[in-house]
Amino acid sequence: METRIIKISTSDLDESGIRLAAKILRNGGLVAFPTETVYGLGADALNPRAVRKIFEVKGRPKDDPLIVHIADKKDIHKLARDIPDCAEEIMGKFWPGPLTLIFKKRRIVPKITAGGLNTVAVRMPDNPIALALIKSAKKPIAAPSANLFGRPSPTSAKHVLDDLGGKIDAIIDGGKTKIGVESTVLDLTAKPPVILRPGGITLEELREVLGEVRVYHPGEKNDEKPLSPGMKYRHYAPRADVLLILGDYRRRVEKIRELAENYRKTGKKVGIMAIRKNRRYEADSIKFAGSDAKTIAKNLFRVLREFDDEKVDVIIAEGIEDRGLGLAIMNRLKKAAYRVVRI
Ligand code: TXA
Ligand code: MG
Repeated sequence: METRIIKISTSDLDESGIRLAAKILRNGGLVAFPTETVYGLGADALNPRAVRKIFEVKGRPKDDPLIVHIADKKDIHKLARDIPDCAEEIMGKFWPGPLTLIFKKRRIVPKITAGGLNTVAVRMPDNPIALALIKSAKKPIAAPSANLFGRPSPTSAKHVLDDLGGKIDAIIDGGKTKIGVESTVLDLTAKPPVILRPGGITLEELREVLGEVRVYHPGEKNDEKPLSPGMKYRHYAPRADVLLILGDYRRRVEKIRELAENYRKTGKKVGIMAIRKNRRYEADSIKFAGSDAKTIAKNLFRVLREFDDEKVDVIIAEGIEDRGLGLAIMNRLKKAAYRVVRI
């Protein structure tokens, strides 16, 4: 299959490009599109045959439910029921934006979209292309991140093309995504609400509005199946082994130098993902991801993919504090890591 690239600028929306992509979606095809977090792989959420193709091209397990994207807050009532009172306030405050909400689902949502669960995940993305596409398709759009299963999420159209070129109908190239990590997934069927996946909206921001909010840690309740099926799989992983280094900065630098040297002695190609520039690092590839959480979030997945393109064997990544956006970054790095070194 030839994958069409439809270039659209966020500042000057090309209506004909949007209409073309929307038509593909309405006909049951797959279109990757930018959101403010990462690129999504879209299909008509109410068409089980279209949604099945998402699982096939990504190689995604069928028990991992998809997020349904809407362009109008009111549409939530068509997809979800028993919507708690607090939902109105947080939708008002954070939508459009990087917050996905879990509700009890209505029957209109196909089983395959919901991964067999009786709940549905919904979000309204904050990207003019995404919103125009959903409106033009006149359908809620199911969209996981547009990467092959287990690979870092795509933050540019090139990343999508690298993973899914030739397998999907079209990619809307709307430039680099603004935030770089995925949305926060908040379960509103639980009391108090539970963050199933930290993301673009922080725990601190949610607590300000909702009061008590818990954070789900996989493995916390061993006897129960994970609340968010996606959390049980290894994720965000580049092909290289990732070593995540945590702890005191000065000692960390020494540890990273030592690890890099030892790996290189054994003939491995070593990459370092640094959050402070340090001339003392020696490796085959050194990448600065940024020093503040916002910048690191924006660069994280791109940097991991670049190391892969350079065929690095081992990535030594510096961790950051897990406050604010740092919680989402550390969640992704821990999932990518093959070893966490605390010093
Ligand atoms: O920012 C984002 O959320 C991006 C963009 C494209 O919107 N999408 C995204 O989708 O990251 P995906 O499929 O890569 O991750 C969705 C996560 C998975 O961990 C999945 O298990 C969880 O949301 N999820 C979806 N529906 C759920 C449900 N009903 N109950 C619990 N978890 C759910
Ligand atoms: Mg994903």
